[in-house]
Amino acid sequence: MAETQKVILIGDGAVGSSFAYANVLSGVGQELGIIDLAEDRVQGDVLDLIDALAYTSPKHIYKAEYADCRDADVVVITAGAAQKPGETRLDLVNKNLRIFKAMIKDVVDSGFDGIFLVATNPVDILTYATKVFSGFPSNRVIGSGTTLDSARFRQEIAEIINVDTRNVHAYIMGEHGDSEFAAWSRANVGGLQIYDWVQEHENIDEEELLQRFYKVRDKAYEIIKLKGATHYGVAVALNRILKAIFHNENAILPVSSYLDGEYGIEDVYLGTPSVINNRGVRTTLELELSDHELEQFRNSADQVKAILHKAMD
Ligand code: 2OP
Repeated sequence: MAETQKVILIGDGAVGSSFAYANVLSGVGQELGIIDLAEDRVQGDVLDLIDALAYTSPKHIYKAEYADCRDADVVVITAGAAQKPGETRLDLVNKNLRIFKAMIKDVVDSGFDGIFLVATNPVDILTYATKVFSGFPSNRVIGSGTTLDSARFRQEIAEIINVDTRNVHAYIMGEHGDSEFAAWSRANVGGLQIYDWVQEHENIDEEELLQRFYKVRDKAYEIIKLKGATHYGVAVALNRILKAIFHNENAILPVSSYLDGEYGIEDVYLGTPSVINNRGVRTTLELELSDHELEQFRNSADQVKAILHKAMD
């Protein structure tokens, strides 16, 4: 462990640089090293981010090398090809697996012994690949999973009933992608079960709730069509996970965690509410889902596994 809480960010594209900016604002961690092949861009971002320090909190920000991962607490990975308009997250798999194989080797060769936090898409597959390529135990390899999708879902629900989003407890689970599902049976606001409550009190029927879920599921496509990339939402979600790690919070977040029999699903990473502390994933929670949700979860696992096995074999 470094004397200060140290993060190395690999990938300084739209997601990486937004992560770095959000990290400077959040004040979580005291050291941020950035690695990217585009060295001038990194140097420019370092200089630009340092300009924010007088108004935020002290942090050592610098252009890093792989050797700097040695005593890092967390390596955040956002590097890789990004989704183009019309492309699914799963379309990216082969391109990004090649990049990951070399990158993870360089990180592990540095002597790194901390926690990997992966955000590159398809995130569930690349998180699994990171575990395989690094040989690290699964609790120390975490993907951003459905943290962003769940944030979108909570916001959507908050708007329906006009309450603070932070009081909405609701999860999108499964693949961070097209086969994800809404765990409506567990969704609550102030202890009220949302699914029945909104139908009774807000005159919103099942069909409209389904449409609201589709809007959440497809939101990345909408944003990519409009501006070419999504980056602010995921940047904040990543910093939320980082805070849970550095502050040893035991916070429950729907990260991509390794499933080892939970929900009858094995050997795959998927978005699942998990307890996060300074050792990574302490526990993967097993929620009581409805039969339909369980079926959707297992279907999502099958889809991710089929692609995973084709790509990794
Ligand atoms: C998102 O959901 C594209 O995975 C990215 O915004």
